[in-house]
Amino acid sequence: MATYKIAVMAGDGIGNETIPEALKVLEAARKKFGGFELACTELPWNSDFYVKHGRMMPEDGIQQLKAYDAILFGAVGDARVPEHVSVAQTILAMRRGLDQWANIRPARLLPGAPCPLKDKQPGQIDFVVVRENTEGEYADVGGNVFAGTENEISVQSAVFTRRGCERIIRYGFDLARKRKASGVGKGQLISVSKHNAQRHSQVFWHRVFEEVREQYPDIESRFLYVDAACMDMVRKPETFDVLVASNLFGDILTDLAGVVVGGLGIAPSANLNPDRVAPSMFEPVHGSAPDIAGKGIANPLGSVMAGAMMLDFLGQDRVAQAIVKSVESVLSDPKGPKTPDFGGKAKTREIGDELARRL
Ligand code: NAI
Ligand code: MG
Repeated sequence: MATYKIAVMAGDGIGNETIPEALKVLEAARKKFGGFELACTELPWNSDFYVKHGRMMPEDGIQQLKAYDAILFGAVGDARVPEHVSVAQTILAMRRGLDQWANIRPARLLPGAPCPLKDKQPGQIDFVVVRENTEGEYADVGGNVFAGTENEISVQSAVFTRRGCERIIRYGFDLARKRKASGVGKGQLISVSKHNAQRHSQVFWHRVFEEVREQYPDIESRFLYVDAACMDMVRKPETFDVLVASNLFGDILTDLAGVVVGGLGIAPSANLNPDRVAPSMFEPVHGSAPDIAGKGIANPLGSVMAGAMMLDFLGQDRVAQAIVKSVESVLSDPKGPKTPDFGGKAKTREIGDELARRL
């Protein structure tokens, strides 16, 4: 029987409230369906750790993480730590250090989830944004000259490699194929770019897309400029299936996608190392939410859905599906418990209990 070693980093704020619910549901699903063991290790690498040790994780933290099969991550963010430091030393360090080059954010409108778009019904919106996660506009290249003077100059460079573009675009096509084969997708891929305005890196991205698409004649593919993609995500998200985009464009598009299908309370994200040479990391999209932390009212569904994505990636797709079904069951039931962000009065813990019960 497979035993999966899971590193659990709940992090700061509501991460400490939502991740325990995800673990509760995962454990209940494991007990019910069997076939695998979960060996979870909690790693207290967060802002408290920073205050004590001057860093968010031990110096060999990335090395230590390589011993696990997957990482379940909550959120970081605390007034005692500069924001670019807490995120850089945890999330960004893992994405780069563990080569988690594919960021996957599904956007599916479930019954009972608040949708800000009028006239859109559950079932109509079901797409996935595939975001390049290690290079592009977030490559750490640049600098400032004449800092602090009137002549200050700031330069930030984007880095697009053939390997990086090709593998993420290919991942998008493969996902479109997989979704089509399983009956959930339309067999369609949209490459999101801005090659009309950024004449070097974006033209390069588009050229790689044109090359890769030749190998996927069974997938209907086209491109959208990123600004048009934003408009269509609001006007006609039902026309989307798989979108693939660079790091920055993907970051912006996924926040928009998240809000279109119910907001931060339910949005999960997977940071995949598809080559499986290092662990992948699964997280809710939300941050540490200091405004509600400690009140026990955070919506745990984002963390639960991230846990389901983790099981799916580890090969337990049937169990992952059961967790998603349980979420759907609670949401679509008018009497089902919901946290305040979803219009209910339930506590974080009640959601986890109910999900475990309905599995
Ligand atoms: P946030 O996602 O923490 O909160 C934004 C708003 O959404 C808040 O009003 C919050 O109460 C609400 N919210 C978020 N998650 C919720 C949930 N599960 N249930 C109910 N309501 C929820 O983003 P914000 O406020 O911009 O950042 C707070 C801290 O988190 C900052 O330090 C920021 O740097 C950090 N952050 C960390 C992220 C991560 O670890 N992946 C992502 C985004 C922000
Ligand atoms: Mg973002």
